[in-house]
Amino acid sequence: MNLLVIGGGGREHAIIKKLKENPSVDVIYALPGNGGIAADAICVSDIGAKDIDKIVEFAKNNKIDFAVVAPDDPLALGCVDRLHEVGIPCFGPDAKAARIEASKVFSKNLMKKYNIPTASYEVFDDSQKALDYLKDAKFPIVIKADGLALGKGVLIPQNFAEAEDAVKTIMEDKAFGESGNEIVIEEFMTGPEVSVLAFTDGTAIIPMVSSMDHKRIGDNDTGLNTGGMGTIAPNPYYTKQLADECMQTIFLPTLAAMRAEGCPFKGCLYFGLMMTPNGPRVIEYNCRFGDPETQVVLPLLKTDLLTIMQAVENETLAQLDVEWHDGAAACIIIASGGYPGSYQKGKVMTFEDNLADNVVIYHAGSKLQDGNLVTNGGRVLGVTARADSLAQALKDAYKATNSVQFEGKYMRSDIGKKALAVLED
Ligand code: AMP
Ligand code: GLY
Repeated sequence: MNLLVIGGGGREHAIIKKLKENPSVDVIYALPGNGGIAADAICVSDIGAKDIDKIVEFAKNNKIDFAVVAPDDPLALGCVDRLHEVGIPCFGPDAKAARIEASKVFSKNLMKKYNIPTASYEVFDDSQKALDYLKDAKFPIVIKADGLALGKGVLIPQNFAEAEDAVKTIMEDKAFGESGNEIVIEEFMTGPEVSVLAFTDGTAIIPMVSSMDHKRIGDNDTGLNTGGMGTIAPNPYYTKQLADECMQTIFLPTLAAMRAEGCPFKGCLYFGLMMTPNGPRVIEYNCRFGDPETQVVLPLLKTDLLTIMQAVENETLAQLDVEWHDGAAACIIIASGGYPGSYQKGKVMTFEDNLADNVVIYHAGSKLQDGNLVTNGGRVLGVTARADSLAQALKDAYKATNSVQFEGKYMRSDIGKKALAVLED
């Protein structure tokens, strides 16, 4: 089979490595892919993930049997709709279903209409009205740009002055572009966060192993928000009892709501959850695999990934038994010094060839230049280890980070620390 994977980050590298395990796979094309993915797939670096016309043309010309659209942008732009139009089976939601991530106003209204537990909220398309509302609000409060904003469109002002700044930044200065035409202002919730990715064909749902992201740049969750500096799975806060509760109060109602709205969701639905004192609440939905959650979840998947993705596309997921490895996985992100602020690219990377069997290095921001792998992004690599225990996985992943060197290499030193404390309690 000829497969096509849209995207070029660590998540896509993890998806590609897993797809390759299926013996019927002949070729995988990655559009655009990256320097490290080039070892596992044929990268077409001049077709970007948002070049929908070119992607469709490429798929038609290269006898693609199945396509996986991984990032949010092409999903929101209707890449799956367009590939279906030319008869190519795909994994991923169509544009209508992708609104669950692409519009916070859509997803908040959906949750309200169908009684899915989430933070209470108001929507504004006028900055003056938003400010009037904020004058009497309780702080901290959460302000979100409506549209896609590279995970950065969420601000949490501590007082009215900061809230004024936040509204101005989003609605007037348009820091997130058109994404900020509307904003959601919502209640600040507290509690541990859990990420649950789930396979769904619109009706059946199979949640994957839960995970925990570490979003801040600095140790002990300090400093600016990033795309994610490391992950662990499973998430020890997510007990069997909470999983059962989420299935009944959040997962199944969300699928039913999307069907009722005429946009059944097929693909990977990502539930960003908070375990509040009043029970589990949805923070956000993503219409895709998380990054870097995928880099710890897929290594724990025992069942063949392509088989699952085909069952999602064919709406036969209910007939499939999906199995997971015991144990745990940890992923340490290696970033460029300066990220998430400005940073330099093009630093030559050296790799020692001594990785243990339970370790894999996923490439996020790398490219091949004159025969060398050089840095090409803020988040550069994700070093994942799988082991019998979380403690061992963390130890092995951190040890393996020493096998990579480049100028300005940065990583957090406390990934998994909170999770280990919960397990030791
Ligand atoms: P999001 O991009 O929606 O995942 O938000 C980014 C981060 O902001 C989340 O991972 C949470 O840590 C935080 N956040 C978002 N919404 C809320 C909320 N209503 N209450 C507390 N924290 C929130
Ligand atoms: N790790 C969060 C995300 O993928 O949006």
